[in-house]
Amino acid sequence: MSQFTPVLDVAYLPPGQGAEVTVGGQVVALFNVNGTFHALAGRCPHGGGPLGRGFVDGTQVSCPWHNWTFDVTTGENVARVDLKVARHAVKVEDGRVWVHLG
Ligand code: FES
Repeated sequence: MSQFTPVLDVAYLPPGQGAEVTVGGQVVALFNVNGTFHALAGRCPHGGGPLGRGFVDGTQVSCPWHNWTFDVTTGENVARVDLKVARHAVKVEDGRVWVHLG
């Protein structure tokens, strides 16, 4: 996919929370950190847990299945930086959050 896709209204995802959305058939984890949105691949590299439904604490999200924790601003696992989740570009326009899978 070569362009941004609208995924949800900004008001739907308050600061400090995450959400799971689907873009072009791919699951994406979306987070609002103090008003800045971040998007990661939605499946945890450990066992496929839903990162968008994880526990958000500041810039970190913990997978709800076995608690692996990632920095949502980099995609890096906080314990092992080589375990990285792909990041996606995000923009806010017209009151909506848009994600680019590219
Ligand atoms: S599936 Fe995410 S920590 Fe195990």
